[in-house]
Amino acid sequence: MKRRVLVADDDRLSRQLLCAIVASQGHEVLEARDGHEAAAALERTELDLVLSDVNMPGPDGIQLVRRARAAGGPQVVLVTGRAEVDVAVAALRAGAADYLLKPVDPADVEALLSRLLVPPSPAETPGIVGRSPALRRVIDRVRRAASSTATVLLQGESGTGKEGLAALVHEASPRRDAPYVRVNCAALAEGVLESELFGHERGAFTGAHERRRGRFELANGGTILLDEVSEVSTGIQAKLLRVLEEQELERVGGNETIKLDVRVVATTNRDLKEEVCKGNFRGDLYYRLAVMPVRVPPLRERSDDIPLLVEHFLRLYRREATSRVERFSPAALRKLERHSWPGNVRELENTIRRVVLLDPAPVVLPEHIELEAALPTSGASPSRTGSQRSRRIKDMEREAIVAALEETGGNRVRAAGILGISVRTLYNRLKKYEREGRPCLPLRSTAA
Ligand SMILES: Nc1ncnc2c1ncn2[C@@H]1O[C@H](COP(=O)(O)OP(=O)(O)OP(=O)(O)O)[C@@H](O)[C@H]1O
Ligand SMILES: [Mg+2]
Repeated sequence: MKRRVLVADDDRLSRQLLCAIVASQGHEVLEARDGHEAAAALERTELDLVLSDVNMPGPDGIQLVRRARAAGGPQVVLVTGRAEVDVAVAALRAGAADYLLKPVDPADVEALLSRLLVPPSPAETPGIVGRSPALRRVIDRVRRAASSTATVLLQGESGTGKEGLAALVHEASPRRDAPYVRVNCAALAEGVLESELFGHERGAFTGAHERRRGRFELANGGTILLDEVSEVSTGIQAKLLRVLEEQELERVGGNETIKLDVRVVATTNRDLKEEVCKGNFRGDLYYRLAVMPVRVPPLRERSDDIPLLVEHFLRLYRREATSRVERFSPAALRKLERHSWPGNVRELENTIRRVVLLDPAPVVLPEHIELEAALPTSGASPSRTGSQRSRRIKDMEREAIVAALEETGGNRVRAAGILGISVRTLYNRLKKYEREGRPCLPLRSTAA
């Protein structure tokens, strides 16, 4: 990987020699003709390494080492004459990474560069495969947010890997040893979700035989993931807002106030701001959730991650089935790189899994790969377990609404009563299904 190296030396010949060696290794080189220029570059430029002469006009090499250390900046290697070895030792004490003796031997410089400029290890983020600049930027942003308690909102299409990134917020945070609790907001009906999140007291509703602590309480001291947060009802949105603002809650049917210290991470595959504009999601809650918004790019915007992901899934699924498949031919990889992946990494994962199971040959060719045609949906997720399940639940919900409207002759107030939801929620749902092109039309509608 290309890195940026500053070469500082007031002697033109030795500077040019160093620059030529560094450039020959494929790195970007910046030159400084004295200590002043070097200090300025240190301050203003993102550098990966500095190679510096010891004696120069302006700040000398040792001062540069100190400045770089103090600023948490790049490593500095000093280039010294043979007579100055004691200086080099002093430089090492001041925090220099190493020293080179003049006249420099290109082989020494090359060895030093490959030792000090190791690319950041790909294993640094376990479970998240990929090295594309787009993914790195996201991981970087997540890691940076992790150290604080700021809420993180991960937005991206279905299957882009939001769950792994949500877990990273927790893993990379000082709370990593405290609980990490996940709630899928789309999979639970409103009443169930409410008591899942906030808990309930004994007798709070029929069937509440025991007091139950909610997920927020279980996550106390740690992190809670509100997965698919766009799907929560208006009533729960109001409660969530309160928990986020006050860091306290009351269990359903209780009046004891419970103090919390919970870090919130949320995901959504909708554009939540757009949902705010449409009136489906509270703006104040949106801003509470999105202190650190993170856009997770679709796979088609980082197709350079595909070969690594293929290798990863191949290794993963070969454990599950005996398969001759060893690798994908270059043409097969190109086919994968050209596909648009509407289902993102999840779709790629399933494609590789299918190839392993079908076991066509040791080297997979393009014709061995079955790609799905894009689904004619509007931003909704393609097939697969999690989303399939939540889709089924939504279908059940829609059917229940249709039935209630039928039963009440289209009276929305009474229908809401039958469904046990607020009229407002019912209106929101009706609007939502209408937008999705599946309006809830009762057979005998007299519309309220
Ligand atoms: N960078 C990655 N490296 C390895 N596996 C990944 C990566 N991104 C996604 N996956 C895998 O792809 C699948 C889908 O990812 P995930 O469940 O995180 O998607 P999502 O963004 O939460 O989608 P949805 O909105 O549908 O819930 C998972 O099996 C996950 O392990
Ligand atoms: Mg998810």
